Amino acid sequence: MQKALIAAFLASLPMLPVRAWAQAEDLFKAQCSSCHGMDGSGSTPAGRKLGVADLRSQQVQSLTDQKLFDTIAYGIKHKQYPHAFAKRGMTEKQIADLVVLIRKLPKK
Ligand code: HEC
Repeated sequence: MQKALIAAFLASLPMLPVRAWAQAEDLFKAQCSSCHGMDGSGSTPAGRKLGVADLRSQQVQSLTDQKLFDTIAYGIKHKQYPHAFAKRGMTEKQIADLVVLIRKLPKK
């Protein structure tokens, strides 16, 4: 039963190869979850302190893919925490995968 559910879940992600998904999730865990939480809610000690946005919220989800990409890559206009992951060695592909991951968060 459990296995069938997982298989159904993976099958619902046709745009992203399973391998890439695992990598994006690992990346999110390593680089983002300390503030944003694995669920994107931002209810971590660091997240609450900084007042991070809930990545599942309308406010964030209404941003275009390009805007989300720019946010992660360059952190334009961010005061609390300039993201700028492009300057810290993250590839465009990795950032694009993170955008896809963020789009999936509200559906979890
Ligand atoms: C040190 C804490 C911290 C880490 C680590 C972090 N963020 Fe954030 N994030 C924030 C804060 C704080 C905000 C709210 C905006 C600001 O900085 O003023 C934010 C906002 C965002 C937003 C909303 C952008 C917007 O323009 O409203 C996105 C998307 C985001 N982060 C993605 C990520 C991703 C993806 C990672 C990992 C690659 C990451 N963040 C890592 C603290 C963090």
